[in-house]
Amino acid sequence: MTKRTTPIIVGNWKTTPATLDVAVKFIKQLDKKCTTSKIKLPKKAYYLAVPDIFIPTLSEISSGYIGSQNVSGISLGQETGSTIPSMLLSGGATFTLVGHSEVRARGETIDERAHKMALSLQSKLPTILCVGEHTRDKEGKYLAKLEEDVKQSLSLVKRNLFENLIIAYEPVWAIGGDTPATTHECFEVVIALRRALASIAGIDYAKRVNILYGGTVAKDNAKLFITDGGVDGLLIGRASQEITTFANIITSCHSS
Ligand code: 13P
Repeated sequence: MTKRTTPIIVGNWKTTPATLDVAVKFIKQLDKKCTTSKIKLPKKAYYLAVPDIFIPTLSEISSGYIGSQNVSGISLGQETGSTIPSMLLSGGATFTLVGHSEVRARGETIDERAHKMALSLQSKLPTILCVGEHTRDKEGKYLAKLEEDVKQSLSLVKRNLFENLIIAYEPVWAIGGDTPATTHECFEVVIALRRALASIAGIDYAKRVNILYGGTVAKDNAKLFITDGGVDGLLIGRASQEITTFANIITSCHSS
């Protein structure tokens, strides 16, 4: 994926909805809203990271990109309960998240994350690496920690594979709450993330990586992150799990 000129709007369904039946109805209604929107949308106007078991069905019917919320970094082998990139691709996934804070909280190590990133990008599966601080300190040490996280997570990735890399900045303190980062706070981190990317791959590669913001994105703040926060798109939890809200965000972000 090269640098996009249209915003990358990614929903993260987490453990919703409860059944495939409900998921299918959601996609049909969302697509109807997108095709009848007054704002002209690109053919594929959204990304949705859904439960893996829904991917084959939803990727057949959705007008957007359907992807996974996590992937294993261990290639073919003996790991019970894991899904590897080739399986996701053959099931219809067109992208995956890696390193979401809720996956990290369940014990994902930096070493596991580095292997996930390497295998996923080698498999040509566009991969969204999620990073974000738990808390902020006045001296700004969290920025250096975020840069280090990016460097270590990408330590096994060759730079020619950066074209399929996206980074999502999701401050953990803003996820699932009611206070998002300000656009200024977001902008500062985007600069730090590009600095980290430039130090590993050079400025040309760094400039081409798309960066998203996530954490309490809502209808009223979504577009501001793109216009003022320096990001190329959004990673959205709760607001992507409600059809009208998600459709409104997609259209507002594509309006001029
Ligand atoms: P909310 O948008 O619900 O805060 O969740 C953000 C998130 O975790 C997206 O990956």
